[in-house]
Amino acid sequence: MYRTHNCGALRMADIGKEVTLSGWVQKSRDKGFMMWIDLRDRYGITQLIFTEEKTPPALFEMARSLGREYVVTVKGTVIERSSKNDKIPTGAIELEVLNMEILNISKTPPFTIEDETDGGDDLRMTYRYLDLRRNPVQQSIIFRSKLAMATRKYLSDTGFIEVETPVLIKSTPEGARDFVVPSRMNKGQFYALPQSPQTFKQLLMVAGLDKYFQIVKCFRDEDLRADRQPEFTQIDCEMAFVTQEEILNTFEGLTKHLFKETLGVSLADFPRMTYDDAVRLYGSDKPDLRFDMPFVELNELAQGRGFPVFDNSELVVGICVKGEAENNSNKDIKKLTEWMQRPQIGAKGLVYVKYGQDGSIKSSVGKFYSEEDLKAWGDKMGAEKGDIVYVLSGETDKTRKQLSELRLEMGRRLGLMKAGDFKPLWVVDFPLLEWDEESERFHAMHHPFTSPKQSEIPNMLNGDHETMKNLKADAYDLVINGSEIGGGSIRIHDRALQSKNFKLLGFTPEEAEEQFGFLLGAFEYGAPPHGGIAFGFDRLCAVLNGQASIRDFIAFPKNNQGRDMMIDAPSIISGEQLEELGIDLALKEEV
Ligand code: AMO
Repeated sequence: MYRTHNCGALRMADIGKEVTLSGWVQKSRDKGFMMWIDLRDRYGITQLIFTEEKTPPALFEMARSLGREYVVTVKGTVIERSSKNDKIPTGAIELEVLNMEILNISKTPPFTIEDETDGGDDLRMTYRYLDLRRNPVQQSIIFRSKLAMATRKYLSDTGFIEVETPVLIKSTPEGARDFVVPSRMNKGQFYALPQSPQTFKQLLMVAGLDKYFQIVKCFRDEDLRADRQPEFTQIDCEMAFVTQEEILNTFEGLTKHLFKETLGVSLADFPRMTYDDAVRLYGSDKPDLRFDMPFVELNELAQGRGFPVFDNSELVVGICVKGEAENNSNKDIKKLTEWMQRPQIGAKGLVYVKYGQDGSIKSSVGKFYSEEDLKAWGDKMGAEKGDIVYVLSGETDKTRKQLSELRLEMGRRLGLMKAGDFKPLWVVDFPLLEWDEESERFHAMHHPFTSPKQSEIPNMLNGDHETMKNLKADAYDLVINGSEIGGGSIRIHDRALQSKNFKLLGFTPEEAEEQFGFLLGAFEYGAPPHGGIAFGFDRLCAVLNGQASIRDFIAFPKNNQGRDMMIDAPSIISGEQLEELGIDLALKEEV
């Protein structure tokens, strides 16, 4: 028997018991006549003690020979510690070892396996199985498991059926590139890995499954960031005979339940904001509402006073930062301006107005504006004595994005984005289409299967180009603390309307038929009205834990170049494999 207890289990009540534990050697301390070893497993750490007085010499020697990460099984008596450690649950006891067996030895690990490690990212990823021994990473993976269980239980209890959809499919356009898989049996042809199960879940509604969910891997070949992985997991859901209102309520219910189950946090009802308001007030379709600091547009007050930069701008807009006038010297503001001018943000400059405690008003554009003018800006922005106002100007979309970056930076600097504070938000009424100047065509804002609002259907069928730009969809996102946690929509379930949408998106009828004939065909056999949503499961894990990166919630993640450092993938495949797959020999030669 390897163990009677785990390494996190023993307490004062167990004193005097003879127990067996197994685990890894975390660290040892040798005082010559006395030695302690921290034995670790998934459940915790128990201190082992060896003494010259009581431990047989051979056993003492064996203890001395143990290196970090050796795997041992020990038998001993639970005793009370003379100096207790109240930081760990087993800190009041220790195990006086009577017997020990080394189950396996270990090379010295390439980084320390403790809460704070000295390993860099790539090293941790190469030895992910060792990184996963670290308590914080293990806790993240355990959290993920709990969240998945709670999700399954809630959805199952409310009548959803979990259905698996295929992984080798034909491309589903969700806006990223597909990963493709060559087919040996159909040479020269490729499957695509699903960017999401979108079309399949819609077909399940046509099939009458009514309420579907799946915790499912999705694959997107896109540029990676802290909150994006090439393969990630969704809680994917679809419902038939449902309105947007019912979907929002159902998944607000799920989200509240998950917060309660995992964190014990009760969330109040989620506010809703239109896409237009989110962009106008926060410059983003995923505003972080842990702090307010809304945008205030100043065109009327700032234009026509002879300041050419503002006069020639489509938008003049600012934020008011409370109590920060005195905390920012000219040097600080210069630094902040340089920060805003970095290529990542690309602001041309940054105008400030300081409303001093003494009633003074100082501004970088003081020579263009009277004190009265600047006071009027302050009044419009709700600025009081001691506040500072930052103003940007330029082309509307760009300026809003830049000011959004500044707003978030202010939030970070002033500690306004507090861990443990959760501000969920439904962003609703997304546009149906997005005009892309470069390619001169419309893209689907959510995806091509999203329905315009009922009231917009006549406009969609008959409107001109400008009308199309302004069509609103029954599409919504769930945002928590500035992170897009989920997105969904009511779908088109009518063949003619779906064909019209494909046409607007630049598909010829033949292309639409070739790529989506199966779905268009299904719509001709009694497709019910339907809609749904998908949550980014990895992101939900990260947000619940106040973390920006999803990596540690994925057991074996990829790095920012999309590589699995541990198994060294992607990798070259053999000439024979390529040949078997019928992949071009020229490519083989290059390889
Ligand atoms: P969408 O494309 O908005 O919708 O994706 C849903 C959610 O998935 C998460 N997500 C990601 N998480 C990690 N890494 C990525 N690369 C990544 N990409 C997306 C986000 C996002 O909100 N089929 C539709 C859903 C629907 O309409 O029902 C879809 O996939 O949290």
